[in-house]
Amino acid sequence: MRPLNLCINIFSGFIYEQQITMLLLRRTVQAGKHGRSFSASQTLLSERKGLVLGVFEKEGEEGGLHLTEAAAGFDQTLSGKLSELLKISGPTLKQGKSRIFYGIHKDFPCVAVVGLGKTTAGVCGSENWDTSKENVRQAMSAGCRLLQDLEVKHVEVDGCGDAQSAAEGAGLGLFQYDQLKSKKKNKVTTQLHGSADSAGWQKGVTYAEGQNLARMLMEAPANHITPTAFANTIEKKLAPHAERVTIHKRSQAWIEQQQMGAFLSVSRGSEEPPVFLELHYNGSPDSKQAPLLLVGKGITFDSGGISLKPSPSMDAMRADMGGAATVCASIVTAAALKLPVNIIGLAPLCENMPSGKATKPGDVVVAKNGKTIQVDNTDAEGRLVLADALCYGHTFNPRAIVNVATLTGAIDVALGSAATGVFTNSDWLWEQLQKASVVTGDRVWRMPLFQHYTRQVTDCQLADLNNVGTYSRSGGACTAAAFLREFVTAPHWAHLDIAGVMSNKDEVPYLRKGMSGRPTRTLVEFAAGLVHKG
Ligand code: BES
Ligand code: ZN
Ligand code: ZN
Repeated sequence: MRPLNLCINIFSGFIYEQQITMLLLRRTVQAGKHGRSFSASQTLLSERKGLVLGVFEKEGEEGGLHLTEAAAGFDQTLSGKLSELLKISGPTLKQGKSRIFYGIHKDFPCVAVVGLGKTTAGVCGSENWDTSKENVRQAMSAGCRLLQDLEVKHVEVDGCGDAQSAAEGAGLGLFQYDQLKSKKKNKVTTQLHGSADSAGWQKGVTYAEGQNLARMLMEAPANHITPTAFANTIEKKLAPHAERVTIHKRSQAWIEQQQMGAFLSVSRGSEEPPVFLELHYNGSPDSKQAPLLLVGKGITFDSGGISLKPSPSMDAMRADMGGAATVCASIVTAAALKLPVNIIGLAPLCENMPSGKATKPGDVVVAKNGKTIQVDNTDAEGRLVLADALCYGHTFNPRAIVNVATLTGAIDVALGSAATGVFTNSDWLWEQLQKASVVTGDRVWRMPLFQHYTRQVTDCQLADLNNVGTYSRSGGACTAAAFLREFVTAPHWAHLDIAGVMSNKDEVPYLRKGMSGRPTRTLVEFAAGLVHKG
């Protein structure tokens, strides 16, 4: 008996075109080679399971399809019904396009099939990422979201020959910050389908959970994620790994004792006490191994201070702790993966607020290393909190220092959301970061650290340094990096300016609109890459 097909075209979000093939639900469908039959109407709505499958475009054959191993296996159990339906339901599924089939299998009332593009894609020299991996992430994310919208509770996901990327796509695509809404999105559980690579799948799940933790922290309102709440959240997340992790939530008194005058000059305008969060992950069997030092800007709200920001979009400054969020989330992830490396994470956490006690433009403050700083713009606060954290970080003799910060609007002007801007004094470190980002698809791009910019921050009327460049608007991301460099003596240091990648509208198809949690996966991949580097 031939099922009756009804095709509907809809347009939605990132999925440019979908063709939904509906089989009349009450019809009895022949299920597979064993000739079993079932009635789709018997399936309870609350128990509906979904399946997401991938399909490649056949090389050199216009309109040809190449099913993944899992899709081919599924097609076989249906005696070729899936490939038949794919042929008759519309044009060949191009990369990112999807189609849903209802009632074709008794275990999976909803099956989403998504285009994976060409099998030969691989690493692309001009895009600086692995297109095949990106296609898998995008396709599995799109398929899972289609089924989530249909209120499917459990989805099995095609490994597409790259179970890690499939899990990342599924996990990142399904994330939604709706904790504070009365009406929540349907929660979907996922599972690998038709592949034996459960290790790859689990690694992808952990990578996605790491980025989702950073997204959650960044998206949460500033009255919920205060410096204290941030530190407590990370402490809870690290509790299952207590064996390898020590955590210090340093108080204002400790910060004063450390003479972190630059950090304190930012926190003094707020009623919320600052916290200096210090995490030690001891994953290496050699406890003496020099640690990787990660430092994250942790401004839980940046109003600009006395140099107050304009009101429109000021709410986005709840994510000005994105550096701290991605750094801490990557340490949580490294601990979950039991990476055999030592990592120290530092997060100077505070609010930047205007008040009678706040730092005023023109004030001079003293950083931990004794350098004096004229604060001409209180909105350039990230470099102040990082300056003291960098000075303190050097005391651990790290093998490399990477600081991460939503530091300047200027990096957004330069690169937009395509890549994190990297300023580094080390070709070796650049190579490691770049290599990691090709794998994750969360890209980096190298930026200059010329003396040209250093002159613009050392040219200062009252102090050793000015917190803004002489020509404040020009090369703003570069002068900020030059400022930070004045607090670095280590040979392998990189500053990652993530202001441009902080949020997502629709540029990264496997992330919903909102705070992005980028580049957590790149940091984890980078740390994992250091394992065999001595
Ligand atoms: N947190 C901002 C940078 C930012 C802007 C992050 C947009 C994310 C999105 C930072 O503290 C800031 O305000 N920087 C100033 C520096 C300027 C005063 C020299 C900026 O970029 O305008
Ligand atoms: Zn600011
Ligand atoms: Zn800021």
